[in-house]
Amino acid sequence: MKKTPPITLEHTEMLAAIPSPLLRWYRAQKDNRSLPWRNAPAPYHVWLSEIMLQQTRASAVIPYYERFLAALPTIAALAACEDDALMKLWQGLGYYSRARNLKKAAQTIVAEYGGELPRDFECLLKLPGIGRYTGSAIGSIAFGFPLPAVDGNVLRVVSRVLASTLDIALPAVKRAIEQALAPHYPEGQAAGELNQAFMDLGATVCLPHGAPHCTRCPLARLCLAHDAGREQELPAKSASKKRRIEKLTVLRMEQDGTLALRKRPEKGLLAGLWELPHVDGHPTKKALLAYLGEQGFAVERIEKLPHARHIFSHIEWQMHGYRITLADNSLGVAEGMPAPLASSTMSVPLKRSDLRNDLVWASREALADRYSIPSAFSYFL
Ligand code: ADE
Repeated sequence: MKKTPPITLEHTEMLAAIPSPLLRWYRAQKDNRSLPWRNAPAPYHVWLSEIMLQQTRASAVIPYYERFLAALPTIAALAACEDDALMKLWQGLGYYSRARNLKKAAQTIVAEYGGELPRDFECLLKLPGIGRYTGSAIGSIAFGFPLPAVDGNVLRVVSRVLASTLDIALPAVKRAIEQALAPHYPEGQAAGELNQAFMDLGATVCLPHGAPHCTRCPLARLCLAHDAGREQELPAKSASKKRRIEKLTVLRMEQDGTLALRKRPEKGLLAGLWELPHVDGHPTKKALLAYLGEQGFAVERIEKLPHARHIFSHIEWQMHGYRITLADNSLGVAEGMPAPLASSTMSVPLKRSDLRNDLVWASREALADRYSIPSAFSYFL
């Protein structure tokens, strides 16, 4: 195995100078960002907000956070929530495994900790969905533990302050920065404030991709990168893996005022959520019509929709789409129709071949109230 050279983070003694000006800055400006989870939050509220904020901007999280807590005001209510209702509350936030993990963790908290979030970092880390970053954020904000919550923002700020050229994509560099920061963390309320100060500084001042606002930065006077005019080059970060491209054709099938939906498999991407049916690849309209005929659908009208692209963390969907209106008796036609052809003889290759039997037909009301459809399909709705 290739040996990696040891990581040496230099000038770490300078980190002692960060908390005081950063906390002063945070306390003076924090009311500019009115975030509901910052008003004397209960541990449950801190936990929920940190999970929602893992992949989503604060401004987008606010309405979800408020709606979620109105529907599920306690950890016990979350533990007992129906999966479909939970998915509906999460619809549009993405990364749905976060919601599933929340519920699983809530069940553990009810079973093992009397329904209260455990006041212990190691216990927090054992709950599904809580890694070191989130555990430290919750521990510091809810319980005042002196734990740095090191995410991309903190890595960027610290790399610039220390003018570090270490690759922040390396887990060892993240660990080194966390260890170097930890001794400088205060206990109590200031611990959570310091973590949120780093988050705010990274989100509003020490911006990535070349354009930090150093004239407004409380750390500019001690920042070695700024001093050397190198803030635009730092941090160093190696490219992440390229996304896999998947081509698909989405079928917005309508009949008699209802829309065809299909449940996704229980494992993998968007597991267990409802989707618009789709076929692999980008077949021609003619091939698609032949396929729908083979499946026993009577197509009254077919109309091409604008193409769309949806980016997940590791996959990119390149989507074509059709709006397909079925004749009102199309569903009835199924009885007495020849069985659908085996997939090998189909006009369109399809992993899950028996489209007809996989579909449910949702009314407009059911679509709004019951079915949770991920945003990847919103371009066609
Ligand atoms: N991102 C993650 N946690 C956050 C918090 N508590 N405040 C603002 N942005 C965040």
